[in-house]
Amino acid sequence: MKYTIAVISGDGIGPEVTEQSKKVLRAVGNIFDHTFLFKEALMGACAIDKTGNPLPKETIELCKTSDAILFGAIGDPKYDNNPAAKVRPEQGLLQLRKELGLFCNVRPVKAYDTLLHNSPLKKDRIEGTDITIYRELTGGIYFGLKELSDDGKHAFDGCSYTIEEIERIAHLAFQSAQKRRKKLTLVDKANVLETSRLWRKTVTAMAVTYPDVELDFLYVDNAAMKLILNPKDFDVILTENLFGDILSDEASVIGGSIGLLASASLGKENALFEPIHGSFPQAKGKDIANPLASILSTALLLRHLGLNEEAEVVEKAVQKSLELGITTEDINTKNPFSTSKVGDFIADYIYNQEDSDLN
Ligand code: IPM
Ligand code: MN
Repeated sequence: MKYTIAVISGDGIGPEVTEQSKKVLRAVGNIFDHTFLFKEALMGACAIDKTGNPLPKETIELCKTSDAILFGAIGDPKYDNNPAAKVRPEQGLLQLRKELGLFCNVRPVKAYDTLLHNSPLKKDRIEGTDITIYRELTGGIYFGLKELSDDGKHAFDGCSYTIEEIERIAHLAFQSAQKRRKKLTLVDKANVLETSRLWRKTVTAMAVTYPDVELDFLYVDNAAMKLILNPKDFDVILTENLFGDILSDEASVIGGSIGLLASASLGKENALFEPIHGSFPQAKGKDIANPLASILSTALLLRHLGLNEEAEVVEKAVQKSLELGITTEDINTKNPFSTSKVGDFIADYIYNQEDSDLN
């Protein structure tokens, strides 16, 4: 089969880690007889520099017509240090999520056995942790009404949700729980926020159609604490945009490095795959960034295309690199491998693995 993949490498370490994912896809294509046609597009600070626009029209068009989107990272300190900048790299990503209707962000969090000692959390607390976070991605305070008074002394960000917006992601979260350990935790702030009360009411009403799933609720402050105290208690977490952003970064501590967390952003027509880490500008061009989150996002991309066996091979290769310590300095301080060497190892493993399976 032939697949067109829109590749948005973005800023900072984005291009370096995305390059490794392309290597991996080439290896998968070679072994399983698929063609992945990569089409590059601009977004973020690099797009502002070249076109003045963080999300050029051509990028949106390419994304709409591709089979999947592989994204690296965006952000540049020259904009971060200037919050008043009218055009910011992040606007590109937020607008792309909205334009493509990528309402459902899935972020798997796992404690890998080989990395238990990498987490600052105690081994017995995190061992066996396997959580999937369903983060709503196109609503809430990210996309509400924004205002700044003329005198600059008053700012406003509105948070809004409709029942439809809640239901469409909640269905996916319930269905995921059905395939896993059958537990769904809705994280909200229903003791304070009207939008949270709508989430609770809507999700509670839906639970009758998923009788095999145990539904419980946590306030976000309490969830933030429990996620660190007892992460094994969680199976699927469902939450709104802002809470999901914060909790998923927190949860990355469990796995030992944010450089391991992959994500899928799903809409009705399109799907985008990206590591949850940012552009890590300090590491740009140094060949030290961890490519595994991007490579694991590629596994999610393959699964989305229905290529399950291919996705498993990629995940197995990542597992092997962790076991053998063929990893970058964020998890391997003693004898770190470079970004490109980790990518080479994963790609080579895929070639060899399939040879040995087929013979
Ligand atoms: C993420 C990022 C983005 C977000 C930023 C870059 C706008 O932190 O994907 O988690 O807040 O959603
Ligand atoms: Mn984030």
